[in-house]
Amino acid sequence: MPEDKVYIFDTTLRDGEQTPGVALGVEEKLEIAHALERMKVDIIEAGFAASSPGDFEAVSRIAKEVRGAVIATLCRAVPEDIDMGWEAIKHAASPRIHVFISSSDIHIMHMLEKDREHVLEMARTMVARAKKYCPDVEFSPMDATRSEPAYVFRMLKEVIDAGATTVNIPDTVGYAIPEEFADFIRAIQENVPNIHRARISVHCHNDLGLAVANSLAAVKAGARQVEVCVNGIGERGGNASLEEVVMALKTRKDLFGLTVGLDTTQIYPVSRLVAQLTGIPVQPNKAIVGANAFRHQSGIHQHGIIKLRETYEIIDPRDIGLPRGGIIVLNKNSGRHGLRARLRELGYELTEEELDRVFRAFKELADKKGEIDDRDLEMLMKEERRATVEVYKLDLLQVSCGNHLVPTATVRLIGPGGEVLQTTATGTGPVDASFQAINRLVGLPNRLVEYQVKSVTEGIDAQGEVTVRIEVDGHQFVGIGSDTDIVVASAKALMDALNRALTRVPRGEGVWSNP
Ligand code: KIV
Ligand code: ZN
Repeated sequence: MPEDKVYIFDTTLRDGEQTPGVALGVEEKLEIAHALERMKVDIIEAGFAASSPGDFEAVSRIAKEVRGAVIATLCRAVPEDIDMGWEAIKHAASPRIHVFISSSDIHIMHMLEKDREHVLEMARTMVARAKKYCPDVEFSPMDATRSEPAYVFRMLKEVIDAGATTVNIPDTVGYAIPEEFADFIRAIQENVPNIHRARISVHCHNDLGLAVANSLAAVKAGARQVEVCVNGIGERGGNASLEEVVMALKTRKDLFGLTVGLDTTQIYPVSRLVAQLTGIPVQPNKAIVGANAFRHQSGIHQHGIIKLRETYEIIDPRDIGLPRGGIIVLNKNSGRHGLRARLRELGYELTEEELDRVFRAFKELADKKGEIDDRDLEMLMKEERRATVEVYKLDLLQVSCGNHLVPTATVRLIGPGGEVLQTTATGTGPVDASFQAINRLVGLPNRLVEYQVKSVTEGIDAQGEVTVRIEVDGHQFVGIGSDTDIVVASAKALMDALNRALTRVPRGEGVWSNP
């Protein structure tokens, strides 16, 4: 009989980090891991330790510093990965080694170029190797949903005999349909004789938009661990979204009858933190954490909500940590205490040093635009959370442009040794001219992959938020900048991306094939 708790396995830092364009630094991963710990996820997959030195360092720092959750690392079914994986997580309070190998013929023949018996042997021996290091071993037959079921059953039996305590069923390419996936989970319970010695987990991708539905169908059929990512980020269409799975289980407890250990009031702050640090925004109509998730447009709906919230809301926004109570406006006369109190209500706990920086930025902004609402504060926090070592600092930007002028920008930067660098460049517009000048001074060859401007609030004095994505040496870096002047915001965003590129060791691409 399966347990009555569903374990939440968060893979934002591993599968989520495989989102195209995301490259988190070690400190950012630690910050997310601490936030996941505060949210009380059961297991944090901290990375793929053997994939690059940067991943190894991040996994081992998380293992040492984050004590309130099981810390897992992913390993291919090869000795080097398992040895290195263990090296990275051995100091964790509760370590877990997660071994995977493909079980579908298409992967076995074309990727692994082996036969089924050989793959079975690798699975068995590598789980046994992991077990010698660590009592908690998870095994995943990759592409399970496109594999021959009888082969998956055999593989699961062998790995459980070898010591696996969790068997995870990945729908690697998001191919399954809920009813069929639930049948598969039931068939595993009926056909794997030693299945009672392991917990069944599921790991669903969203290629058909069914990752959450498949995960929930699997839970109904007996799975008791769900692998998820905050905001549903991940390879291609992403992974099952943590907030959707958890809130479905909680909201429909009448149907599932199962408990989840998560502190749901952390969902909203953690969602924002992940969006800010990854540079992947949450779509406005995203369930649970999208900007529109608790907004009511139609007069009939508004009328209903005013009378009784439950008329059009199935979740109390406070349950996910979303502050209600209207938009509170601060201005240049507001003090540190007022700012801290509002940020606290918005879910941000700041150290004195952080508050000093945010307060300075707040005052500067309030001088320019008078009233500061929650969206402006979110923007200030986004910049604060993304603060990186400034190798080059933007000191001055001056542009001239117009319909009869060649757009020209003068940029002054302070370099790594405190030296003052200045140049003037022309371009197709003021932003291009500024970028030309900055690039000339920094001298780091890069390609602009994406440039986006959006307004943070309404009105002519609104802040513009600029996101810039650049490619350096095959690695992508995201920069964010905001200002009431969008040319300045653009320059700040490019500086942020360049400073990130100059200070970060990106994940080792090409070292392994992405699961
Ligand atoms: O999608 C997948 O199959 C994976 C496994 C490594 C669990 O990410
Ligand atoms: Zn995956």
